[in-house]
Amino acid sequence: MRNDFTFYNPTKIYFGRHAIDNLAEELRHYGKRVMLAYGKSAIKKMGLYDTVVEILTQAGKEIVDMPGIKPNPTYAQVLEGARLVRENDVDLILAVGGGSVIDCAKAISVAAYCDGDPWEKYWEKFEPVANRVVPVASILTMTGTASEMNAGSVITNEDKMIKGGRVFSPNVNPKFSILNPEYTYSVPKYQMVSGIFDIMSHLMEQYFSGDDDNTTDYIIEAILLSLIHSTRIALQNPTDYDARSNIMWCATMALNKITGVSKEQDWEVHAIEHQVGAYTDCTHGAGLAVVSIPYYKYIYRNGIAKFVRFAKNVWHIDTDHLTDDEAALAGIDALAKFIVEMGLPTRLRDLGTTEDMITKIAKSTVPGGGYRRVEASDIEYILRECF
Ligand code: NZQ
Ligand code: ZN
Repeated sequence: MRNDFTFYNPTKIYFGRHAIDNLAEELRHYGKRVMLAYGKSAIKKMGLYDTVVEILTQAGKEIVDMPGIKPNPTYAQVLEGARLVRENDVDLILAVGGGSVIDCAKAISVAAYCDGDPWEKYWEKFEPVANRVVPVASILTMTGTASEMNAGSVITNEDKMIKGGRVFSPNVNPKFSILNPEYTYSVPKYQMVSGIFDIMSHLMEQYFSGDDDNTTDYIIEAILLSLIHSTRIALQNPTDYDARSNIMWCATMALNKITGVSKEQDWEVHAIEHQVGAYTDCTHGAGLAVVSIPYYKYIYRNGIAKFVRFAKNVWHIDTDHLTDDEAALAGIDALAKFIVEMGLPTRLRDLGTTEDMITKIAKSTVPGGGYRRVEASDIEYILRECF
């Protein structure tokens, strides 16, 4: 653990079939007015909306409704939510849904009392939040992002054509999150596998960078092994509780800071996908699946030992008779095959990208990387490889 670190994650997790039973007790710590934030229709179809409204009503709360938060939540929705929070003097924002709903709730929580333009301050200039932050809590229904246990908030500014990610300080983390794996049973297969690839990508963004002998890399490998194992079971039987609960916890662990401890990190696959998303509104994990293979083929020689280790430890490839180059590529190939096995797309055109978008996406992506820095021209090459 070569690099000094501070680890602090203040989110309380209630996990399991009966996790919702803790909601009433938690609500006692907050004031009367609760904003109920959710997406289009999933929680109503599941009956979860009625359950939550009943618990809130019995707890004597006044509900401020914030429906219709879109996948890839927009800045316009953040501003609308912030206005509602101020007008109703909201005491707690309860996000019920996937990463988009929770990310939007966090954005609303920092934007409501921001003095100035929140986008400019928080998503462009990355200023620390000095204004009042409204507490957020979550009930998770779709697994992948780990937004339930982190301070990340990814918002699409439609006017600027930027999908911007920001990680706030831990006071923006949800105060508590309720995780019942059974809530994820109704997630459509495409969303399920997109969420699973998002988890894999979070792990790989942290793994493929920095090569001291550290415990964190072993933890990442272990989570990847569990995730691949449980994914194969969930693909056959989406209501296998053990598999869905493992996947849910893998997701939370993959981006609650524990798998980043002491590590340099990459995050360029995410940077590229966010701009693909800004132009196409594609599903986040599907975009990551498309971009990952050409990206890793482009950079692997700069971190070859780690890619060989990935082939051996994650995909159990016998590398004894292979050169390092062959072994590294065999690992990337195993990843590519798993993407196909899950039924995820492999081409940008399948996500609605048109050729005229490629240069614009490349130029608007924040350059960076782990083993190798990539600039707009490199990103354009990577995008053309998977177009
Ligand atoms: O709108 P509703 O009706 O709720 O439907 C949603 C949505 O269409 C549906 N869904 C959710 N739970 C369901 C369900 N359908 C049936 N049954 C259920 N139980 O699933 C769809 C996708 O939901 P969404 O919240 O968009 O998915 P996800 O959790 O993957 O979140 C994606 C967003 O999170 C950002 C992404 O960029 C994207 O904007 N990220 C957030 C991160 C963070 N906070 O740290 C990190 C990630 O890298 C990521 O960038
Ligand atoms: Zn992600």
